[in-house]
Amino acid sequence: MSGDRIRIFDTTLRDGEQAPGCSMTLREKLRAARALSELNVDVIEAGFPAASPGDFESVKAIADENLGPVICGLARCNAADIEKVHAAVKGADQHRIHVFVATSQIHREHKLKMAKEEIIKSAVGAITMARELCEDVEFSPEDASRTELTYLAEVVSAAIEAGASTVNIPDTVGYTVPAEFDELFRYLRKHVARIDEITLSVHCHNDLGMAVANSLAAVHAGARQIECTINGIGERAGNCSLEEVVMAIKTRAEFFNVETGIDTTRLYPTSRLVSSITGMHPPRNKAIVGENAFAHEAGIHQHGMLQHASTYEIMRPEDVGLSKSNLVLGKHSGRHAFRSRVRELGFELDEFETNRAFHEFKKLADKKKDVYDGDIEAIIMNVDNASVGPWALKSLAVQTSTDQLAQASVVLIGEEGTETSETASGDGPIAAAFQALEKVTGVTLTLKKFELHSATIGEDAQGEVTVTVEHDGDSYRGNGTSVDIVEAGSRAYLEVINRILRRRQRDLPDTDSTANMERATI
Ligand code: KIV
Ligand code: ZN
Repeated sequence: MSGDRIRIFDTTLRDGEQAPGCSMTLREKLRAARALSELNVDVIEAGFPAASPGDFESVKAIADENLGPVICGLARCNAADIEKVHAAVKGADQHRIHVFVATSQIHREHKLKMAKEEIIKSAVGAITMARELCEDVEFSPEDASRTELTYLAEVVSAAIEAGASTVNIPDTVGYTVPAEFDELFRYLRKHVARIDEITLSVHCHNDLGMAVANSLAAVHAGARQIECTINGIGERAGNCSLEEVVMAIKTRAEFFNVETGIDTTRLYPTSRLVSSITGMHPPRNKAIVGENAFAHEAGIHQHGMLQHASTYEIMRPEDVGLSKSNLVLGKHSGRHAFRSRVRELGFELDEFETNRAFHEFKKLADKKKDVYDGDIEAIIMNVDNASVGPWALKSLAVQTSTDQLAQASVVLIGEEGTETSETASGDGPIAAAFQALEKVTGVTLTLKKFELHSATIGEDAQGEVTVTVEHDGDSYRGNGTSVDIVEAGSRAYLEVINRILRRRQRDLPDTDSTANMERATI
């Protein structure tokens, strides 16, 4: 084993992104990858390049930024997939090819229709080929937790002989329990020759709510890499949550006797970033990053906390990047204070973006007394989305009444700086505003979902709106934020319209659905 250091392998952009509604655009993936690098993860699994041209492009774009962590791509055991991963990740100084094949009886018989020996042959062939292209090769026997132990040991042994430097043991369907998984890892360590020469990894799904517990059991039994996602996003009930597993290791260091390289003060900002990108917000009571995770409301708890924080608090909010009072700026805050808070929140803005964000901050501070971190993050998201046009929202006015249709007027600024305005009516202010946007831009969308989330606290909190819409058979998601929810919704709607128009102009695969629809079944 490689000692006391646990490698954190983040798969938010691959396994996490596979979750329905969590697909991200190239820009969003780049933003998330930069945040993961700030968080100091060891490996970023950036995608599955063979799944679609869009997936390939985003893995390549992330690798080409050479952010520091190892950049990894997933491949099935075939030459085309492996070559695609290599072409996509090779721009990063440190890169990895991750190959997988299912090994359980159920998968062998019903999915692959392959015999045990054929599967080993295919894995060995793929690892050998990947090793010719790249020194760092990971192998995963999919559905390992439901694979016969003796056969699993044979597969792992063959993978090590073929040159895999990491062998990952997935609990693909979230079926195992901690004691059983602990035994599985101990069994492999006992029965597989040379296993101590490679990094043994764990990858858990959360179908029975035990992904974090199972990952920790594996660590206790010798695993030295954990595969996980921010906010635990992932297919079905999700993957092992990065923030939970990392804080468990840190908080119970005396028990696990291992450490990660994660900058835990970046956990909360990264969680916020991923939830605003995906529109998937962790429940209030979610450990570590939920709104209530550090709130002590019961009188007896508050009394204890006032006497000594450690009576009821096992972690400090600031350890996970949640400042006790995150009220940071107000109307009189200057540019310098704004800029330094933006940096503390982990955003790197250029001069132009800083100017736009500061301008928006001043406008918001005029409307809203207290400006919180969540507000600043929302401003940056809005500026980022708006900066890629072709249309920008100049103004929006709505009129509603209980006995008449709502009216909305919008003024948009086009690429040449010209203003175009339209008025429309609808059953409510949002329907009217969306109609008006469609009239100006000529793009018609079908609204499937409208989700509203409060970015901060208080009556004047900004609303974060995520819209899910369809256009020409493709599904898109857009985000927008404002103290006015009609404006927030309109910004979200316009974000999607802009993406469709940009895609038309450049014919780039920039849809959420490209990845989902063209994704090969794995
Ligand atoms: O859950 C799983 O088995 C996977 C593998 C591809 C590692 O995601
Ligand atoms: Zn998985």
